[in-house]
Amino acid sequence: MKISLPKNSRLQSEAFTFGVATASFQIEGGVDSRQTCIWDTFCATPDKIRDASNGDIACNHLNLWQEDIALITSLGVDAYRFSIAWGRVLNQDGSINQQGVDFYIGILDELKRRNIKAFVTLYHWDLPQHIEDQGGWLNRDTAYLFKDYADKISQAFGDRVYSYATLNEPFCSSYLGYEAGIHAPGLMKKAYGRQSAHHLLLAHGLAMQVLQKNSPNSMNGIVLNFTPCYALTQSAADIQAAKQADDYFNQWYIKPIFDAAYPDLLAALAPEDRPEIHDGDLELISQPIDFLGVNFYTRAVYQADAEQGFVQVDLPGVPKTDIGWEIHPQAFTDLLVSLNQTYDLPPIFITENGAAMDDKCIDGRVDDFDRLSYYQHHLTAVDNAIVQGVNIQGYFAWSLMDNFEWAEGYLKRFGIVYVDYASQTRTIKASGQAYSDLIRSRAHFTNNNNK
Ligand code: FCB
Repeated sequence: MKISLPKNSRLQSEAFTFGVATASFQIEGGVDSRQTCIWDTFCATPDKIRDASNGDIACNHLNLWQEDIALITSLGVDAYRFSIAWGRVLNQDGSINQQGVDFYIGILDELKRRNIKAFVTLYHWDLPQHIEDQGGWLNRDTAYLFKDYADKISQAFGDRVYSYATLNEPFCSSYLGYEAGIHAPGLMKKAYGRQSAHHLLLAHGLAMQVLQKNSPNSMNGIVLNFTPCYALTQSAADIQAAKQADDYFNQWYIKPIFDAAYPDLLAALAPEDRPEIHDGDLELISQPIDFLGVNFYTRAVYQADAEQGFVQVDLPGVPKTDIGWEIHPQAFTDLLVSLNQTYDLPPIFITENGAAMDDKCIDGRVDDFDRLSYYQHHLTAVDNAIVQGVNIQGYFAWSLMDNFEWAEGYLKRFGIVYVDYASQTRTIKASGQAYSDLIRSRAHFTNNNNK
C-alpha cells in the first residue's frame, strides 16, 4: 500500500520539509546520566502510569543513537525533530554538564553530516525535579531559569541547529500537568493550570529573545497543539460551549503569542483562578516568531453544561485510533484554515501528526495499514489547507519509533518504526515504508539522495 498525493501538490516540491519526531524522555533512557525530572517522580508514584513503567531505559536511544540516525537516514527524510533534556545538559547549579551537551552535539554533527535538518525542541515536558521542588511552572522564576538554559544551550550548540522550538505543547504542561493532574507533576487546580500556562508562555518569550540573539540564522518558534472543538448540535448553547472550550484549550496558548492578549474568557474566570500577569509580560510573549509548529491528532465535540459551561461528548460509532482519539482529517484542514484567518501567522510546520494503533510484529513485518491510511488522509488534509492558502512548509510524523507514551506507558504505539522493547530491535512498519516511498518519490529526490 502507498501514500499518494496529487502530482502538483506543494508537498511534492523540494521546498517542503518531511521529517520524523521524537522527544527526550520518551526515547532516551539513560536516567543515571541526567538529573531526575518530574516524569521520573511521576512514574514512581503508584497508579499514574497505566503499565507502571518509566523512562529509565525507554528506547535506549542514549546508547543506540547512531543506529537510530542511520535508521532516520534510511527513511530518506529531510529533517529530524527531537528534544533536549534540560537535566542532561545543565547541572543543578545551572552549570553546563559537558557530557550531556556532547551527546547532543554528537547527534547534531551526525545529522549535519547526513544532510538532515535538526529541529530542536528545548522543552518537551521533562522539567528537572529540583526546579519543581521550588514550585516548577507555578514559580515565575522558572521562566527565567528556562531563559538561562536556552541561552547556555544555544551558545553551546553554535550554528548546528536548523530550527529551535522553545516549548512543546504548553497546553499539556500546564493543563494536563497542573490542572487535570494526569501528567507530571500531577497537580489539580484550575488556578495552577492558568498560572503555569502564563509562566510557560513567559518562558517562551524570554527564550525567544536569547535564541534570536545567539542563533539568528535558525528558524526560532514554538510548538502548540490543537484539538479543534465542535458543537454537538447547532443550538446556540452548544455552539457557545464549543467556543468556550476552544478558548480554554486552544486559543489560550496562541492568542497571547499573536495578539498579546488572552481570550475574553480570562475575565470570566473566578478572581482566585486568574493568573498573575505582570506589566510587559504580554509584550514579551508576543514578540515575532519565525515559525509556528502545529501538532494535530484529533478533534473534540462539546455540549453545553449548566454547571461547567461545556462538557466533552464521546461520540459513539466514529472511527478511533487505539488511544481512543477520533479520526477526523477534515478537522485538520479546518483548523489550519481557521488559524490562518484568525492570526497573522509566520510559516507553519506540522511538527506532530500520527496515530496509535495496536500493532503486531509478525515474522519481522508490521502491516499497520490503519496507520498508513491515517497518514494518507492527514497528508491530504494538509495539502487541502495549502490549496486554501495556508503557508505550510513542513510535516513531521509522530513518531519515528514506538516509545514511552506518557501516562499510557508503553501500551500505545505511535511509531512508523516498531520497537521490541525486550531486544530493542527496530522494524520499519508498512506505514514507515510508505512514508519513506512518498518522500523518495518526489521528483527532485534523485538530486538529493547522496545521504
Ligand atoms: C503529543 C506529545 C507527544 C506524543 C503525542 C502522541 O501531545 O507532544 O510527546 O506523546 O502527543
